[in-house]
Amino acid sequence: MCSAPGKVIISGEHSVVYGKHALVTAINLRCYSQVNKADRIKIISELGETGLNFEVHPYVSWAIKLFEERIKRKITPEVRIKSQIPIASGLGSSAAVTVSTLAALSLEYGMDFGRDEIFEIAREVELRVQGRASGVDPFVSTFGGAWLMPEREKFSFNARLLIVDSGESSITSEMVAKVAMLKERYPEIVDGILDVMDRITIEIKKALETGNDTAVASLFSINQCMLKAIGVSTRKIDRIISMLERSGIAAKITGAGGGGSILGFVPRRIKEPELEHKWLEVSPEYEGVRCEHGG
Ligand code: PMV
Repeated sequence: MCSAPGKVIISGEHSVVYGKHALVTAINLRCYSQVNKADRIKIISELGETGLNFEVHPYVSWAIKLFEERIKRKITPEVRIKSQIPIASGLGSSAAVTVSTLAALSLEYGMDFGRDEIFEIAREVELRVQGRASGVDPFVSTFGGAWLMPEREKFSFNARLLIVDSGESSITSEMVAKVAMLKERYPEIVDGILDVMDRITIEIKKALETGNDTAVASLFSINQCMLKAIGVSTRKIDRIISMLERSGIAAKITGAGGGGSILGFVPRRIKEPELEHKWLEVSPEYEGVRCEHGG
């Protein structure tokens, strides 16, 4: 059995598309894949039970296919997936299922792939399924930890983060296109906002590293204002964020927005957040993909 973590973007969604910095961290929610040799391909997950199926299980199916290409022979694995990561909410569940499945295939078929090789194939799977993608998700899921992108500079911090699901779906490509249109219409204004976002990302990294909760909270709020300014917030997200702020938790969109997940920063003085909304506490995860033998 192998597992790999999900991720959150702490800062820099959208601006990273234009070459600015982003802060991303793996989180302590994992996807588990168990692979056993069988007489035909079977993929079992909460999405259903299928064979090789690029509609229902695109990531696992591509992982099997590209793994076969890499080892130059056909295989018939049974793959069982159990995930703690909510699906399609910007928390990296697709990358985590890909990475954990590749590691489990490698283990069962005695290939002993290293992390670099797993990342390389997972990146290819992401490209096959999504067409265009930054590669941040499979990278963070494979290696774990918190990173400043695009430098891939590792950093460490200790913070309690919480996730609230907005209940609205987030379609990354639509949101990226929306920002691109706004930038075309008002290039100087949007460029200015993207530069501010870049600065915020650098300052959040410093504040997290030094444990300056007050600074992190202010910077989260400014960041959210910028995301709202470029049109990726929604009324529902704004309402949830106000509710979180009333409880002393600064919050922002994480990922593409238009729905999806909201990331809250819980300052140390708050022991147990009391919120009207359903929430999930997460923390940075320093371990990337791992396998438990005999599991
Ligand atoms: O919602 P996610 O996890 O797909 O994040 C999207 C982040 C963007 O910056 C909006 C797009 C990207 O490719 O970086």
